[in-house]
Parts: sequence; structure tokens; C-alpha cells
Amino acid sequence: MHSDKRLIVALDFPTLEEAKACVKECGDAVSYYKVGMELYYAAGSSILAFLKEEGKQIFLDLKLQDIPNTVAGALKVLTKLGADMINVHAVGGPKMLAAAAKAVQEAAAEANKPAPKLIAVTILTSMDEEQFAALNYKGSIADEVVALAKMAKDAGLDGVVASPMEAAAIRKACGPGFLIVTPGVRPAGSALNDQSRVATPAGALRNGSTHIVVGRPITKAADRKAAAAAIAEEIKGV
Ligand code: C5P
Repeated sequence: MHSDKRLIVALDFPTLEEAKACVKECGDAVSYYKVGMELYYAAGSSILAFLKEEGKQIFLDLKLQDIPNTVAGALKVLTKLGADMINVHAVGGPKMLAAAAKAVQEAAAEANKPAPKLIAVTILTSMDEEQFAALNYKGSIADEVVALAKMAKDAGLDGVVASPMEAAAIRKACGPGFLIVTPGVRPAGSALNDQSRVATPAGALRNGSTHIVVGRPITKAADRKAAAAAIAEEIKGV
């Protein structure tokens, strides 16, 4: 069984026990996990300690957004917990993003650890055109995503979270080496749930994504390990 480091499985569970069971079940088919708000609020840093013991990589998806000083303080604490990737909301603005990038570097240096990758959420992948219109932004979703990605890059961030539909435009605007982490990934034929702007795992990587985040198609599968292995197999050739 070969895992693929470009596949990040979203551990969206309400308890530590359920998350641990999923990790044990997926075994060596998955090497990278995403811990989001639900699980982090339920389990706190114990889930990170568990994943590290299991030798897994961690994307801490807490989507921080607040005034620059508050985000910087929170990120200093989170950086020391040892995640490999952390995120903030790009709409927090350039000053918040710059303060976030600085805080992560400083905290990593203080702790004598490699700095986690810091990425920015652009526009949520659940957002469709109708909901987006209600926000009253000037351009299209794609325009807004690219503008936010450029802003994040200029502020010193390592990449963005975006839909696979916008990955190609972000790659063109932000160049090689910029991380593009894409949720909204659905194997052909599987349920969309509440996601709107979706692509298949291989399609997302071909569009320029560096990592794909997959939750329910794996966590709700009858055989989670087989579902994860099938996606890892699909993307191996890309
Ligand atoms: O179950 P599903 O594959 O839809 O899970 C996608 C995961 O990615 C969820 O944990 C969700 O919070 C997260 N996410 C997202 N869209 C974003 C950022 C994060 O769906 N823009």
C-alpha cells in the first residue's frame, strides 16, 4: 500500500475517539491529515500529539481571521504545536497576512523547529455564484480568488486554499512553487454534499493543485482504507 503526500484526508469528527479510529482504519493508505474546527474544538492539541505519534503529517485548518495582533498571537501558540501546515482567511487583509507570516517564522525560530507552511483561504469551495452575489464583491469568483491569492503571496504566505476550478488561474498568477491546496474534490460518481465548485482528484492536480483535501468520500465510506487507496492510486499517475 502506498500513500500519496498530495492526498490530505479531512478528519471532520466530533470526538477524538472517532478520529483515532479513522486514522487506524486508513493505516498506511494515508500519510497526511487535516484537523479542522470541529475536531480541534473537541479534542484540542491531543489529536495533534496522536497524529505525530502515528508518524502522520498535519494540516491544522482553523481558518484564523481577526485583527493582526490577535492572529499573530494565536499563530505563535499553534506553530509550537508542531503542525506542518496552518491557515488563515485571506480576507483578513494584507496587514493581517503579513503579521501572520512573521509570527509563524518567529515562533518556529524560538522553538527551533521548521516553520509550518502558512496558507490563506481564498473563497470557500461551498460558495456558488448565487451566494457570492450576496457578498457584493466587484468581480467574478475567479477574479476574487486570484486577487486574494496574489495578496497572500505578496504578504509572504506559502500558498492558498482554493477550489480546483481556480487552480490553473492561481498557478498562472502566482508562479511555480506556490502551494494550492484544494478541497471540493470528489471522485467521479460520488456525492457532492454541500460542495459546489468541484473536480476529481486527478483533475484537481492537473489543474495545478499541489494537494487535494478529501473528507466525506473517505470518512463516510464503508471501507475507508480502500476509498483512500483508490484515490491515491488515481493520482499516482498525475
Ligand atoms: O467532506 P469534504 O470532502 O467536503 O471536506 C472538505 C474539507 O475541506 C472540510 O473539512 C472543509 O472544512 C474544508 N474546506 C473546504 N473549502 C474551503 C476550505 C476548507 O471545503 N475553502
